[in-house]
Amino acid sequence: MTSFKENNRYWTMTSRPEGNDFDSCLELRQETSIPFPDGTFITKNMFLSMDAGTRMYMTEREDSYQPPIPVGEKLMGTVLGEIIESRHPDFNVGQRLRSYGQWSDYSHVDPKQMFPSIVDDSEIELPNYIGIYGANGWTAYTGVIDTGRVKAGDNFVVSAAAGCTGLLAGQIAKIAGCKVIGIAGTDEKCELIQKDFGFDGAINYKKENISAKLKIMCPEGVNVYFDNVAGATLDAVLENMAIFGTVAVCGLMNNYGSLDRVPGPINYDLVLMKRLRIEGFFSPDFYHREPEINPILKKWHENGDLSLPMQQTEGLERLVKAYSSLFEGTNIGKVVVRL
Ligand SMILES: NC(=O)c1ccc[n+]([C@@H]2O[C@H](COP(=O)([O-])OP(=O)(O)OC[C@H]3O[C@@H](n4cnc5c(N)ncnc54)[C@H](OP(=O)(O)O)[C@@H]3O)[C@@H](O)[C@H]2O)c1
Repeated sequence: MTSFKENNRYWTMTSRPEGNDFDSCLELRQETSIPFPDGTFITKNMFLSMDAGTRMYMTEREDSYQPPIPVGEKLMGTVLGEIIESRHPDFNVGQRLRSYGQWSDYSHVDPKQMFPSIVDDSEIELPNYIGIYGANGWTAYTGVIDTGRVKAGDNFVVSAAAGCTGLLAGQIAKIAGCKVIGIAGTDEKCELIQKDFGFDGAINYKKENISAKLKIMCPEGVNVYFDNVAGATLDAVLENMAIFGTVAVCGLMNNYGSLDRVPGPINYDLVLMKRLRIEGFFSPDFYHREPEINPILKKWHENGDLSLPMQQTEGLERLVKAYSSLFEGTNIGKVVVRL
């Protein structure tokens, strides 16, 4: 088989992570060639997207929405890169694109696998294609609009509110005319989402009683909860849901580090008492909607209604630090590794 010959560093797992300890199980290795069959191409990676959801594929779990990444294989994720060799008639050397690639210097991309999308924009806008104009933007948009079905005047609550997906979801709910409350893990984050991103209120879940504070902030109840974390936060919000409210289930930050199944919410019976709708959603189900959603996100971004801080870490060798920040809660907005 033809191969692409170049020194290529890549990240792999030597074992499955325990909790959020990535230092002891992720390893940077090197190879000198990449198998490169017909119908595929090679990108030189410029930005790697750090996504909390990748933690799911690091775990041995057969009933996940995607199979686990085998130990010893290259870790995968969304990458932005430039094609430097192509054996595919529709993808040409020099094109920049977003694709599903590897946490490595070079990615081998099989376009049949997932959504390569040409990105023809300025250097400054480029990283936005793995933020606002990428899976996080579409997740926030569809979670708020399609799953959340928000209406103007709704009380909307989002957790991990200063992180990438939560920050976008809160701003989109604000654009839709909701009163928006964010739940985050530090006072600085709580202040920032209100001062710089227009949230109407914030709760520091590490210091404050979420349920008691929500009772004061939303006495009529929460109409839509965009859940990024599950766990005790979900239980506290369930106590405050309005009748016929919606829980849009985006992610499970509280549960990813656990080796065992985490029992469901204590307040499950409130789903019946309050006639709630609980619905999960998953971004690959709506990648095909990029041409419809991105112009809307672009308009909001250009108007100044939607923005996203970028936390850029330089160098593939520093990836573990960047990835860990999502689980230590030290990030604000999108975390990317710049190569
Ligand atoms: N369904 C989908 O298709 C889809 C797509 C993209 C993302 N997601 C989900 O969206 C969520 C956010 O992902 P992201 O990549 O945008 O990351 P992110 O929000 O930028 O970073 C994760 C944030 O989660 C919070 N956190 C960490 N550990 C936590 C814990 N044990 N309990 C509560 N909060 C915790 C931290 O903020 P604090 O300071 O607030 O703790 C951290 O900043 C994840 O659950 C992810 O799986 C889902």
